[in-house]
Amino acid sequence: MTSPERVAVVGASGFGRECLDVLEAMAAAGAPVEVAGVVDDGPSELNLQRLSARGVSYLGTVEEWLTTVDGEWRYVLGVGSPEVRRRLVTRLEDAGARPFTAIHPSATFGARCELGEGVVVCAGAAVSTNVLLGRHVHVNPNATIGHDAVLADFVSVNPAAVISGEVTVGERSLVGAAATVLQGLSVGDDTVLGAGCVVTKDVPEGAVVMGIPGKWVGRD
Ligand SMILES: CC(C)(COP(=O)(O)OP(=O)(O)OC[C@H]1O[C@@H](n2cnc3c(N)ncnc32)[C@H](O)[C@@H]1OP(=O)(O)O)[C@@H](O)C(=O)NCCC(=O)NCCS
Repeated sequence: MTSPERVAVVGASGFGRECLDVLEAMAAAGAPVEVAGVVDDGPSELNLQRLSARGVSYLGTVEEWLTTVDGEWRYVLGVGSPEVRRRLVTRLEDAGARPFTAIHPSATFGARCELGEGVVVCAGAAVSTNVLLGRHVHVNPNATIGHDAVLADFVSVNPAAVISGEVTVGERSLVGAAATVLQGLSVGDDTVLGAGCVVTKDVPEGAVVMGIPGKWVGRD
């Protein structure tokens, strides 16, 4: 029998604990994975209590954890912010930690999808056919990614968002809850698509989009 991968979640806040749900569901479905615990540089008392209540160990700060891990341990980034994830990956990769790809058993995929390392896909997400998800892309519960879409590294797609077919989303962009991007559009790097917006035109790098139809302003 394959020995299970021991996976630590980096981040004790909401998305970190949702990542625990994904890993636990994978294990319950028979995948060879085991939750090692949670790593966080500054967990709140409340979040520590929440971890303890579900029987998950707090493993210390990133630096503390990195001194204890051996090469076999893996991590999932349980942090919603694309930019914070990018910075964390640099620290973790420099220390030789290896990412884990976490896919909830209830998520669905079409043919010929390609997933980068460290991708997290949550419960009920639907990824259509021929989709490319870059490194450490997060697809939250019930989000939909259309056919032939390309999501670059560190993109976050929040719950119930809809990325239509043949859309491209640039690195570190955040697609807000229930936002919709219409088919074939291109969204630049480092954008934020506000919750509930409908994107009807290509979006330039760094824009923050709100409303229906989506309007934007530049970002500092
Ligand atoms: C769009 C967004 C990035 C703006 O954040 P912000 O710059 O901090 O904006 P503020 O909260 O200061 O609000 C500024 C104004 O925009 C409005 N606004 C904020 N978000 C909006 C949205 N998604 N759609 C329409 N208007 C919005 C506010 O009502 C406020 O209007 P006012 O000036 O008339 O009072 C943010 O609100 C958002 O939607 N982020 C996505 C979050 C998400 O998906 N959350 C779910 C996590 S699971």
